[in-house]
Amino acid sequence: MKLQILSLAALALIFEGHALDTRDMPVVRNGSVLLLNDKPWKAVGANVYWLGLDENVLPPPGEPYYPPLHASYPHPGRTTQIMAIITAMGGTMIRSHTLGISVGNPLSLWPLPNQTNPDAFKPIDWAIYQARVYGLRLMVPLVDNFDYYHGGKYTFLRWSGFNLSRSVDERNPLVQEFYNNPKVVDLFKTYIRTLLTHRNPYTNLTYAEDPTIFAIETGNELCGPVWGDMDVPAEWVRDIGRFVKELAPAKLFVDGTYGVNRTHFGVEEVDIFSNHYYPVSTAKLQRDLETCE
Ligand SMILES: *[C@@H]1O[C@H](CO)[C@@H](O)[C@H](O)[C@H]1NC(C)=O
Ligand SMILES: *[C@@H]1O[C@H](CO)[C@@H](O)[C@H](O)[C@H]1NC(C)=O
Ligand SMILES: *[C@@H]1O[C@H](CO)[C@@H](O)[C@H](O)[C@H]1NC(C)=O
Ligand SMILES: *[C@@H]1O[C@H](CO)[C@@H](O)[C@H](O)[C@H]1NC(C)=O
Ligand SMILES: *[C@@H]1O[C@H](CO)[C@@H](O)[C@H](O)[C@H]1NC(C)=O
Repeated sequence: MKLQILSLAALALIFEGHALDTRDMPVVRNGSVLLLNDKPWKAVGANVYWLGLDENVLPPPGEPYYPPLHASYPHPGRTTQIMAIITAMGGTMIRSHTLGISVGNPLSLWPLPNQTNPDAFKPIDWAIYQARVYGLRLMVPLVDNFDYYHGGKYTFLRWSGFNLSRSVDERNPLVQEFYNNPKVVDLFKTYIRTLLTHRNPYTNLTYAEDPTIFAIETGNELCGPVWGDMDVPAEWVRDIGRFVKELAPAKLFVDGTYGVNRTHFGVEEVDIFSNHYYPVSTAKLQRDLETCE
């Protein structure tokens, strides 16, 4: 009899625990502190860029594969395995290019402008669901500065009639059309809407709704015509930030400019400034922290 009462009490606790599942709560910013369930939360994790589209694996014959870019969809088990590894290492989050950047090849979310490939959503849906299962959060950039296998700003430029590529045009001032040309910006926004309004069948939540994605980043290592120039117009950051927050008001918004650009401090939509520190440089990190204070 006593045992039965105990097990009932345990059940009641489990139900109460379920009602308070922090995985359903957004990570929020209070000043310079991130909070989950009113307690400080730290983003610690890895950059696992291939969760939506891989370039490291030759898939079994018959599976989708695009040889020119070595592109394939990651096996579901490979995705689950990395979640388990990050969790075992004490991580709280993963940043992943291809959960947000997937344009310009036959396996992409957008192989062509305005044309959505439903198969490309499958590994992304799975990765977001697996992150949720493991209690991890995701940071998702929307565009890449380069011409990598998953596509990026040059893809949107070419789709909009600017025949530019990184190998030829990295220093061409026309690359700024990505930020300044209304036609390119509109196409990019349509892409963002396609991504954020997609409903994940594993969770029945849109990417905009699912707090597993705690942060949306403008892009990866965004620059202007000179590598490292931080020449990303503040007005563009504001415009994209507003658009993202309209679609997904509970997400944190990250400035993905490659380096902390002081002219962006006036953009209230930005919750987090970012930089990349390799080779490891704590001095650079310290300088950026001081800049942000
Ligand atoms: C948010 O920050 C303010 C000012 O630093 C502090 O008074 C308040 O307790 C914080 N709120 C939470 C939920 O931590
Ligand atoms: C994409 O669709 C929008 C309307 O939804 C249209 O205005 C635009 O021209 C299209 N862009 C391309 C490159 O097809
Ligand atoms: C685009 O530019 C490349 C060189 O970067 C050139 O080989 C190609 O012919 C151009 N395509 C068009 C349609 O102009
Ligand atoms: C999924 O969510 C939508 C919108 O909230 C709702 O209308 C629908 O009933 C849900 N479907 C399931 C299977 O729960
Ligand atoms: C910072 O951004 C502004 C545009 O908002 C740009 O003019 C400037 O070149 C960027 N770089 C630096 C180092 O300020």
